[in-house]
Amino acid sequence: MQQKVLITREVFPECVARLRAHFDVEINESGAAYSAQELIRRASDKDGILTLADPITAALIDAAPALKAVSTVSVGYNHLDIAALNKRGILATNTPGVLDETTADLAWALLMATARRITEGEQVLRAGEWQEWRYDMLTGSDVYGATLGIIGMGRIGQAVARRAQGFNMRVLYNNRSRVASDIESALGAEWVEKDALLQSADHIVLVLPYTPQSHHTIGARELALMKPTANLINIARGGIVDDAALIDALREKRIGGAGLDVFENEPALNPGFLPLKNVVLTPHIGSASVPTRRAMSNLAIDNLIAALGVGPHAGQPPNVVNPEAHSSASSASSLSSGAARS
Ligand code: DGY
Repeated sequence: MQQKVLITREVFPECVARLRAHFDVEINESGAAYSAQELIRRASDKDGILTLADPITAALIDAAPALKAVSTVSVGYNHLDIAALNKRGILATNTPGVLDETTADLAWALLMATARRITEGEQVLRAGEWQEWRYDMLTGSDVYGATLGIIGMGRIGQAVARRAQGFNMRVLYNNRSRVASDIESALGAEWVEKDALLQSADHIVLVLPYTPQSHHTIGARELALMKPTANLINIARGGIVDDAALIDALREKRIGGAGLDVFENEPALNPGFLPLKNVVLTPHIGSASVPTRRAMSNLAIDNLIAALGVGPHAGQPPNVVNPEAHSSASSASSLSSGAARS
């Protein structure tokens, strides 16, 4: 009997066809996310799940006894309950590498739009409020020659730093561990303590993964350290910034502005952002170019096919995020065979 796969949302048809060549595929073609209950129901008889941002919870995992692999079409995987997957020995995979440049482009789009008040200017025009040219109209901050601070210096952080060279910027970064010195030299990037970065940078870009440790990396204390003219850009994950504290700082003009692609509790948006002019908002579109979304989908499918034991990499998907699942799977099976013998 063919293994069964669930695709939680519509994805490129050629990607679905690649899965159909090996598996019995069910796809959510409704145009909307399944409710939590519906997702659990649909997952309950599946061997594999391709998730497009839909949460894979402990309740879902408990309800899906045949589940062997979960492949997310994203590099971030904080919507997967890794501890629950590990307990069952279920492999989880993600899509690193293929979205770095596109996501770095969006960081720069937000940085430029925030520094130069692009969306605010467009709103003035659309509202018919432009009466005359004024020397101080929509004056923002400089990017060329300014100091860029990057928190999180993985692949995407490095792609953000590479672009700064064209803007003749001083680049500071903070990361749990320093990157290799040849990479630092190639990027012209200097490691500094987080507080020093917050105090010195004109534009700060957040590019770190969401974990319990990175929760509220930027809160009221950190915002208070920033220059009153500095801009904060978050392309990483909601929860890394304390949105309520950021709204206060923006409202009271204690920082220059913010460019945000990700939010706490998204897709819900803290309504406090809406009246603020000094924030540029986009709906989590960091990797949203057609070629990149296609590359992510295909990589996620390579991962799922391999994780379900098919094809040239059978059993060895290229992008496993929980290699420890293998050992828990074997200890779980030896425990259960032990239990069966006794
Ligand atoms: C990612 O790949 O993590 C992007 O943020 C899309 O979720």
